[in-house]
Amino acid sequence: MKKKILITGGAGFIGSHVVRRFVKNYPEYLVVNADKLTYAGNLENITDIESSVNYRFEKIDIVNKQAVLDLFEKYNFDGVIHLAAESHVDRSITGPDEFVFTNIIGTVNLLNAARLHWKDNPEGKLFYHISTDEVYGSLGKEGFFTEETSYDPRSPYSASKASSDHLVRAWHHTFGLPVVISNCSNNYGPNQFPEKLIPLAINNIKNSKPIPVYGKGENIRDWLFVEDHAIAIDMIFHRGKVGDTYNIGGNNEWKNIDLIRLLCSIMDKKLNREPGTSEELITYVKDRPGHDMRYAIDSSKLQNELGWSPIPEFSAGLEKTVDWYLSNTRWLERILSGEYEKYYDMMYSGR
Ligand code: NAD
Ligand code: TYD
Repeated sequence: MKKKILITGGAGFIGSHVVRRFVKNYPEYLVVNADKLTYAGNLENITDIESSVNYRFEKIDIVNKQAVLDLFEKYNFDGVIHLAAESHVDRSITGPDEFVFTNIIGTVNLLNAARLHWKDNPEGKLFYHISTDEVYGSLGKEGFFTEETSYDPRSPYSASKASSDHLVRAWHHTFGLPVVISNCSNNYGPNQFPEKLIPLAINNIKNSKPIPVYGKGENIRDWLFVEDHAIAIDMIFHRGKVGDTYNIGGNNEWKNIDLIRLLCSIMDKKLNREPGTSEELITYVKDRPGHDMRYAIDSSKLQNELGWSPIPEFSAGLEKTVDWYLSNTRWLERILSGEYEKYYDMMYSGR
């Protein structure tokens, strides 16, 4: 194997797409997926590549310093793509501690292990930290987040991600660790845990349950198809400039309520319902505390320097996503019943 790559959080939503891409496109790499398998980690996301010769799974908690050091000792990685995190804003409001442990302490443990292992030979090594546009705070009606925008995180989730970004940059400037960071807008697509807006709405519409819209539904997010994010990660990992930051976004801003209406019309078509049927499920609920109004990313640096651009039209990407959820009912049912959490024991016990 030419390179040994650690991907953390590879059983999660975005991580599973990144793991699949690297395992399939780089047979010369050994891809090690390290994941704690929290409620958000689901090995059933990547059953198609689990038997590949260039893939390994390691169940570890990145908050466990010794486990992280042992993992580096075992594999002697050349590169790290760090996605493992607590990722849901609403959970960070009801229970922020886990966000501090995983997103901050977990990142420090990985940085320290990489530093220790690469100190004598940093050439060709890279610690790639995956982050979010939420670190930049909330926009008004105008403007975009650029790589120069000052950090202004406002939720426990975004504050913990901002802290981890700062630590990654500090390890670069102080210790010379070769790092790169990207900050991406909201992702959507297959395998997203049905607590985030789009899969939650698809599932509720399917089951004719109310679609909870926070506040007036006027908050704006910039949506990117998850595979476009995985392509950007691939490009940045291979061609990004060490020490740099890249913003990734879909140039695709939607008010939540307009997005839900579009989703309703797609679902009416797919489920052979009368037009307008699903919209009746829209239910305005109490707003999220500290709800950021608008996120919008300027990704021109990534587009100009590395030639990346988002591929699918939003309605096409959304339709593809709806089709995936409607034809993968077993995946969804096993999540909703909790059955998916038994998959690891079934597949890996005794190994
Ligand atoms: P996710 O919640 O779907 O998956 C997170 C994964 O990390 C899970 O597999 C979970 O088991 C694992 N994990 C959590 N705590 C861990 C720990 N202590 N040790 C080891 N593994 C642990 O998240 P996602 O949506 O795929 O996001 C992945 C990354 O991308 C995160 O860093 C997130 O901040 C960032 N991001 C997400 C979005 C988005 O829209 N989802 C947008 C921009 C950036
Ligand atoms: P979410 O998918 O949680 O992503 P984030 O908060 O990281 O942007 O939410 C996307 C938007 O949708 C956000 O403005 C909150 C809103 N939202 C709802 O209106 N209802 C819901 O049930 C959820 C989960 C989110």
